[in-house]
Amino acid sequence: MSKKTSKLNRKDLLDIESLSREEINLILETAKPFKELFTKSVKKTDYLRGKTIVNLFYEPSTRTRTSFEIAEKRLGADVINIAVSTSSVVKGESLLDTVKTLLAMKIDAIIMRHGSSGAPHFLADRIKVPVINGGDGFHAHPTQALLDMFTIKENLGTLEGITVALVGDISFSRVARSNIRGLKKMGANVRVIGPSTLIPKDIDKMGVKVYYNLNTGLKGVDVVNILRIQKERQKQMLFPTIREYNRFFAIDETTLTDKNVLVLHPGPMNRGVEISDYIADSEQAVILKQVTNGIAVRMSILYLLIGEGPLKKETAK
Ligand code: CP
Repeated sequence: MSKKTSKLNRKDLLDIESLSREEINLILETAKPFKELFTKSVKKTDYLRGKTIVNLFYEPSTRTRTSFEIAEKRLGADVINIAVSTSSVVKGESLLDTVKTLLAMKIDAIIMRHGSSGAPHFLADRIKVPVINGGDGFHAHPTQALLDMFTIKENLGTLEGITVALVGDISFSRVARSNIRGLKKMGANVRVIGPSTLIPKDIDKMGVKVYYNLNTGLKGVDVVNILRIQKERQKQMLFPTIREYNRFFAIDETTLTDKNVLVLHPGPMNRGVEISDYIADSEQAVILKQVTNGIAVRMSILYLLIGEGPLKKETAK
């Protein structure tokens, strides 16, 4: 079988910091022809024909797990989904023993989400098959950052020089960390906005500007990416009440009046908490486009990591 002409020269995709600017560009550019495929009546290709991919999710997910499954199937792979709650993990089996069991079944790649930061790195260091991080603790969610960057670039034409505000729970958000790293690498200006209790004290070392006031922080931005409160990762509430959070930090029709600002949200949304119905359902919100783009970006990553052959005509640019 012919070799790909350009690809990601790595086994795993674990975080954004280890990707070069060129690799990010390659992933975003390769996602474009895969997205074009979605307009066709037959959306399937065979770049992963004969490969078996396991989606191993230790935490709940709607978007990431489903879009990886669709991406894998559209690339022609055989797909196994393991919901940890119905697996032998509940009988006490370790991560490594679970994965060794899967490897004995001759699988070709693992997509993993785990509640512990660093779990995909731990696994990737110990096995030969590729590991793709579907979100680990509050460390990283690289495929989310890549699909967010794809969506911004698709709408604004560039990432270079634009200003993006991440609003909300920065401390506990893997989406925030991966977005900051990716956007900075691609030349964007990044701000974080939220209550001081939800913004790490040394976040400015990542090259971002910090705002504790929503109105001030939103002045002059091109993009606002709204993050939900990660209640499941907080041991205690870090602001007085949800009502107060909503009053001071919600993106709604009174706090975001500039209709040219692009609105992103990685989901799941808490309508009436960090975002109003009006904004979530507005023309300037590209939240469902992010979901569609997530499939194209994940197809691109899977193809570049483990796909066979050059891009064929129907998926070529
Ligand atoms: N954005 C995101 O990771 O959503 P899910 O938790 O539904 O996968």
